[in-house]
Amino acid sequence: MANTPSPFDPVSIGPITLRNRFIKSGANEAMCIDGKPTKALVKHHRNLAAGGVGMTTVAYMAVAKVGRTLPNQIWMRPEVIPDLKVLTQAVHDEGAAISAQITHGGSFVTGMKVRGRTISSSSGFNPAGMMKGNIFQRAMNEDDMARVEAEFVSAAQLAREGGFDAVELHMGHGYLLNQFISPLSNRRTDEYGGGAENRVRFPARVLAAVKRAVGEEMAVLAKINVADGVRRGATAEDGMVTARALEAAGADMLVLSGGRNVESTWFMFGSNMNRETISRVLKQQGDWMTSLMMKAAASTEPEVDFKPLYFMEYSRKIRAAVTMPLAYLGGARSLADAEQSLAEGFECVVMARPLIHDPALVNKLRSGELTKSGCDNCNACVAYIYHPAGTWCVHNPPNDLLSNTIPAAAVN
Ligand SMILES: Cc1cc2nc3c(=O)[nH]c(=O)nc-3n(C[C@H](O)[C@H](O)[C@H](O)COP(=O)(O)O)c2cc1C
Repeated sequence: MANTPSPFDPVSIGPITLRNRFIKSGANEAMCIDGKPTKALVKHHRNLAAGGVGMTTVAYMAVAKVGRTLPNQIWMRPEVIPDLKVLTQAVHDEGAAISAQITHGGSFVTGMKVRGRTISSSSGFNPAGMMKGNIFQRAMNEDDMARVEAEFVSAAQLAREGGFDAVELHMGHGYLLNQFISPLSNRRTDEYGGGAENRVRFPARVLAAVKRAVGEEMAVLAKINVADGVRRGATAEDGMVTARALEAAGADMLVLSGGRNVESTWFMFGSNMNRETISRVLKQQGDWMTSLMMKAAASTEPEVDFKPLYFMEYSRKIRAAVTMPLAYLGGARSLADAEQSLAEGFECVVMARPLIHDPALVNKLRSGELTKSGCDNCNACVAYIYHPAGTWCVHNPPNDLLSNTIPAAAVN
């Protein structure tokens, strides 16, 4: 197509411009200690920036202490700013932009016990909380909503102060904002429940507040599900309604994903989890309970064969529903996949596993050294979010454990 840009062309997203259209997807690095980024996280994102991405995304930064899923997870508070600055400076020094994925787990709290009931869109039994005894959740009231909205705004402001160029509000995969969007968790009967327009009302309100607070200086992105991929879950038509509402709320770009952590991980990854590796890594950490739960969940999954660009059919529907910039995600593995994504009208292409496998992939695609990623979609990397040395591709040399125990800004 004559007008299709190259994936190596710059692109403007709201107030920022990226040097090219390749984005590293937010993928829990597990490189944090006591809620702060570690030196290992700095190295990880510096390598991605040096390897050519236009923007890298720091995953899974909780907007509040209650809002974390895992005990070491970064949570946004003023004392973390010096560490954030070291991280963002390292990426800027290599010429890339850096985005903060900000999130609240709501009832998806798998790694610690929360006092009282976890919050969510609706009250009731909380299957995701079984592992640590967070068995019941309660429906958020107006005070809770105002507090969570303020927490997202404050996290975005802290990200700005820490040097980030963009924030990505996590509205997919089963976290709090997705617990409103998805009919699997939202059983409300007020104006925040019922049809898809109502279910996206609170997430859109949070996004509009973030945009008002930081939108002049930062790009404000949201990661959404194109669909949940399971019966009674959000459909592609719901995804279209969600996208339209977030476009109206002022989002600068949507990152399109799918699936839910509890109900449909195979849909999220376009392939089955690596049960053996997950079970081995969890047992090494003494976490037999999580290992058993994961095994039980996996036994009900359909068998799925990986296909490149596995969300394309769904993502086309979202493309047709809005005019705003959209980022394609899901199984992009080659230069041809990136070019096709742009030819289909997406502004950027987002990758996780190929860049965990090889942080220099973008430079290698540009130089012609490679035409496609060497990632074989074994999904073993997912198991290593539970490992003390952090997320790792099993085809690479091991991660350095020591640098994952030292906060980014520590003088040592
Ligand atoms: C190890 C690992 C950890 C992940 N953690 C997150 C996360 O923290 N937040 C998120 O939005 N997605 C997470 N994901 C999902 C990816 O961002 C992405 O949506 C998915 O891997 C599909 O993209 P890919 O085919 O390019 O890998 C993770 C993926 C992997 C492999």
